[in-house]
This record gives sequence, C-alpha cells and structure tokens, in this order.
Amino acid sequence: MASAETSTIANSSSAMKRDSDGMNKNSGNGGIESLDGDIARDAVFMPSTTLPAETPIVQGYDFNQGIDYHKLLASYHFSGFQATSFGLAVQEVKRMLDCRMKPLPSDFCQSIDVEPCLEIRNNCTIFLGYTSNMSSCGVRETIRFLAEHRLIDCIVSTAGGIEEDLIKCLAPTFIGDWHLKGADLRKQGINRIGNLLVPNDNYCKFEDWIMPHLDQMLREQKELGTVWSPSRVIARLGKEMNDKSCIAYWACKNNIPVFSPALTDGSIGDMMYFHSIAKPGLILDIISDLRRINDLAKRSVNTGMLIVGGGVVKHHICNANLMRNGADFSVFVNTSSEWDGSDSGARPDEAVSWGKIRIEARPVKVYGEASFVFPLLVGETFAKHHHEQQKQQQVKDVQ
Ligand SMILES: NC(=O)c1ccc[n+]([C@@H]2O[C@H](COP(=O)([O-])OP(=O)(O)OC[C@H]3O[C@@H](n4cnc5c(N)ncnc54)[C@H](O)[C@@H]3O)[C@@H](O)[C@H]2O)c1
Repeated sequence: MASAETSTIANSSSAMKRDSDGMNKNSGNGGIESLDGDIARDAVFMPSTTLPAETPIVQGYDFNQGIDYHKLLASYHFSGFQATSFGLAVQEVKRMLDCRMKPLPSDFCQSIDVEPCLEIRNNCTIFLGYTSNMSSCGVRETIRFLAEHRLIDCIVSTAGGIEEDLIKCLAPTFIGDWHLKGADLRKQGINRIGNLLVPNDNYCKFEDWIMPHLDQMLREQKELGTVWSPSRVIARLGKEMNDKSCIAYWACKNNIPVFSPALTDGSIGDMMYFHSIAKPGLILDIISDLRRINDLAKRSVNTGMLIVGGGVVKHHICNANLMRNGADFSVFVNTSSEWDGSDSGARPDEAVSWGKIRIEARPVKVYGEASFVFPLLVGETFAKHHHEQQKQQQVKDVQ
C-alpha cells in the first residue's frame, strides 16, 4: 500500500515537472521538439566573452621532462587551486626580497638613539610570524636558516615557538603517531604534539637550564634596574644557549628582535610560575615590547609580512603594520577558513579593511599545512636568493 502511494506521488510530481518546464509544449513532431529558441540549448551553449589575452592557461608539469623539483614547483603557478596560490606566494616573497635589496632612500634618517636590533638596515623590513608547532616540527630548521643568514628582520612567535627551539638544544623531539593513546603516553611521561613525541624529561632538563638564568635576570632587575620584556628575555636565553642549531641564538647574534607577547603561555610560563614562588619579583614589561615592534614597523621604509599559522602571531604582526597604514607585501600560510569570523582564518582582504595591509598591495594567502608548504616556499625564494648572492660574492672575491 505504502509503495503504491509513493509511486503515484512520484508519477504525478514528474508529470507536474514536465508541465511546468513546458518541455512538450508545441512539439507537434511526435514528442521531439525543435531546438530553435530552446531554453536548454540557450543555457548550454551560452556564448563567452573573450578573456584578456594575458590570462594564464592551466598547465601542469610534464614528467617526460625528467624530475626537476624546481621546474615542478615553478609549474604550480599554472596548475590552479592552492598550487596557483603557492606560485603567487613565491612571486610576492620575491617582490619583498627585490624591495629589500634596493638601497635605503638617500633622505632616510636613522634615529641616533635606536637599539641595534631596531635599526632599519634594509629597504624592506620583513616580519616573520610562526606558531609554536613550527618550532616543534622540522620547520624550525628552515626558520633557523632565515635567522642565521639575516634574511628576515623581526620574528613573532608564541611561547611554544620559543621554548621548543631552546629545548631541542637540550634533548630531541621524536616522530610518533597521531593515534597513540593519550592515557598510555601520560603513564610513560611522553607528551604528544600531533604526530610528534616529546619526553617529559625534556621539560625537566629545560627547568634545570633556565632557572639559573631567571635568577640572574631577577638579580639584574634588582641591582641594575634592568627592565625585562619578553623580547629581552628571549635574546638573553638565545645568547646563553650559544648553540648554532637554535633560532634564538642566531636571532640574538644577528640583532633580530624576537617578540612573544604571550610568552608565559607555555613551559616558559610554568618555569616562571615556579620561579615566582621560590624567588618572587621578576617582572616582564609587555608594553615596552609593543612600543618596540610598533616603532619598528612605523620607521621602516617598506614592510613585508610572512605569517605562518594564525592566532597571536598573525594579529601581532598585522597590528604593528597598522601603525604605518599597512604592510606593502604579505603572505599568509595557514589552514584556517574565514567562515567562523576568526582572525586566524581571515583572508588578507580583511586586513586591508583595517589598514593592516596597504590598499595597493597584492597579498597572498596559501591554504595549506605549513610543515609541507613553508620549506618549499623558502626553498623557491629566500634560499635561492641567499645562494645566488653567495655565488655573486665569491665571483667578486676572486676578481
Ligand atoms: N608545540 C606547541 O604547539 C605549543 C607548545 C607549548 C605551548 N603552546 C601554546 O599553545 C598556544 C597556542 O599555540 P599557537 O598560538 O602557537 O598556535 P595554534 O597551534 O593555536 O594555531 C593557531 C592557528 O594557526 C594555524 N596553524 C597552526 N598550525 C598550522 C600548520 N601546521 N599549518 C598551517 N596552519 C597552521 C591554524 O589556523 C590554527 O588555528 C600558544 O600560547 C602556545 O605558546 C604550544
């Protein structure tokens, strides 16, 4: 009974559809209608306007050419989807670097009393932001390369981004598995970050290492009146670590300021908490750091933002660039979407509306997981640029 009813309803609905579509109207030829003036034909064969002559044609890499990873990555620009965004990001970073290589304007005036790490040394100040997990994974080595060769001018990261970098100088992080059970790992004293594993002993070693430095900072605060801020603490820790595998070491050595407004939100914060119980009194001044990063953006001739991930690091860099009515060049790499209204997911155009990216800029967002995308982006831009510069220098040295 039920199936008969269903079939009747189905038949009548399909009859109604035919009527309302008018498909059989005036057919007069045994049910096969004329195609002249037919709505379906007009819809399917809608004529196109001609696209501008310079519109790129979609074309992927041909492996018959052999396996050339540089050519493969260069072909991404014409492949579509996020591959094209990657190609556009490569172009945007190259524009940043070209601008950076130009001499400072002849009328540029460096303030006399500026700290060495806040001096404007290039025509384009590059702000690099990255989330904590970038130090946890192998992207740390890519960032260390950028700091080691002073290819960037300012760093912003979260607490984990600072401490994971330092901790790796004391003990390694391991590759594990996303599916290892939390309860089992907890019983073994192993912490999981995605598919990475960090033994809890690493944090115990970190405590042993950092406590005497916190003692010393407290002494200097009391005896010399030193005002500590997150960036000053990070520079001191980088110097004390004195390890060439460390981002903070190179940042300190090359006078690259590292800002971390939420420095207490991680293991460093745990250490500061315990230290404050044993030896209270250490103060971190986050406003002096705010002044430093905002002034750096304001005094820069041009600026570029390269932001890996979202959250604090993304907003802090964008907000500093508001102080100069927007960055000139911007590349965002993250997995976040804008539909929830989050700052992490906001496309660059939202930052344009706030004056954080200039109206005339050509910002790029790559939707992608950074452990995969960022080393490729650096390989096609900063690393190539650095090695080309070195070659040119060697030729000059020989002449
Ligand atoms: N290893 C760690 O991740 C770690 C360690 C200690 C403390 N913490 C603390 O956790 C808090 C949150 O961390 P957070 O603010 O650095 O960032 P987060 O991990 O909360 O990420 C913020 C956003 O960045 C984007 N993102 C993150 N990882 C990405 C990736 N691999 N590829 C592309 N996009 C990515 C996503 O959109 C994400 O929502 C911080 O206060 C931090 O200090 C983190």
